[in-house]
Amino acid sequence: GSATRYEAEGSGATCTGAIDGNHSGYSGTGFCNGDNTDSAYAEFTVQATAAGTATLNLRYANGGTTGRPGDLIVNGTRVETTPFGSTGAWNTWTTQTVTVQLRAGANTVRWDPTTANGLPNIDYLDV
Ligand code: GCU
Ligand code: CA
Repeated sequence: GSATRYEAEGSGATCTGAIDGNHSGYSGTGFCNGDNTDSAYAEFTVQATAAGTATLNLRYANGGTTGRPGDLIVNGTRVETTPFGSTGAWNTWTTQTVTVQLRAGANTVRWDPTTANGLPNIDYLDV
């Protein structure tokens, strides 16, 4: 079926940083510019009608020259470290796909940066 879009600036999402709009090409009313620290995270509350496998598509831009890796934490359990490689410019957005297991009802999906550079700018999560 079609995906549900969870905007980084939307209700049920947390951005430890600012919701900015100064780099074009984002969806909705802005994107999450997380603070540049390893303690700044981006979190989404994702609803699932049934437990099972789900495809996460996270849209981000990383105008830095190096990766901005983040641990993907689903309902408190680490799934992987998503690399978030450079996209070359802050207005060049790309989508990272990860397959995860969700439970029925509300799920917490969070990316925790692993370096002091923090996360890339995050636009939305499609599930
Ligand atoms: C720049 C850019 C921000 C980005 C930041 C970063 O300041 O304008 O959108 O978040 O770099 O390095 O994280
Ligand atoms: Ca930032």
